[in-house]
Amino acid sequence: MEQTINNLKVYLEGDRENKSIIFLHGFPYDHTMWDEQVNFLKDKYFCVRYDIRGLGKSPAGDGQFTMDSFVEDLSSIIDELELDKPIICGLSMGGYITFRALEIDQTKFSAAILLDTRTESDSNEGKIKRQNGIAKINKEGVISFVDNFVPTCFWDETIKNNSELYNTVLNKSRRSNAIGVKGSLIAMLSRTDTTDSLKNISIQTLVLCGEFDKLTPPNVMQKIADEIPNSKFVMVKNSGHMTPLENPKFVNKIISEFVEENFSFIE
Ligand code: MLT
Repeated sequence: MEQTINNLKVYLEGDRENKSIIFLHGFPYDHTMWDEQVNFLKDKYFCVRYDIRGLGKSPAGDGQFTMDSFVEDLSSIIDELELDKPIICGLSMGGYITFRALEIDQTKFSAAILLDTRTESDSNEGKIKRQNGIAKINKEGVISFVDNFVPTCFWDETIKNNSELYNTVLNKSRRSNAIGVKGSLIAMLSRTDTTDSLKNISIQTLVLCGEFDKLTPPNVMQKIADEIPNSKFVMVKNSGHMTPLENPKFVNKIISEFVEENFSFIE
């Protein structure tokens, strides 16, 4: 079922009476990044996905986004749907939103799943790279930007051996709204560092990372798991940054085991 909440496109699957999981996709992608996970989990869990503002089918508006405005969007969906302590599951930029949401009020969630993400804010070099990305979009258009960016997200072998998946994701990204993509770039380059708050996370947390993730490599994510008191780190073999798409079977298995371990009392 599709619904519009606070101007955002929200996609609901499963029984509302079940424990809920809310999924936050990466940049510059959309909710379909989680298709395999939702298909696998929807019989047991109420699965909530949405297109982050400015991406997918959620309109960009004026394109003035911050990480905190993304957290406000997340809260508006949780409140409107009256979700009772959902499990939050975020990848990369979805992870940046998740870390900030946990820092603001982790009591809203019962557990967290973080994939291929980081807590450090952008270095000066990273900020300049994002600004160059914005300049590229202004000069050459969004297609030119995504054609450069999307290949960095995948493992080289995935691009070679699963060109159907790669081309589907690339072609969808090429249709992105330029204002939305630039708005996300500004939100990411202006985000705060959430590393210090990791030690305060008291909910159960699962940390997943693709073996060949070039953007947020396994050593970065292992450190995140080391800092969070109740956490578990799992490496996803045969995958780059796009773990839910590149190795969906394994990701589904690990996520469902984690959720069942922590919430088996909810039937
Ligand atoms: C993402 O997948 O969301 C991006 O790689 C995040 C980023 O560019 O920092």
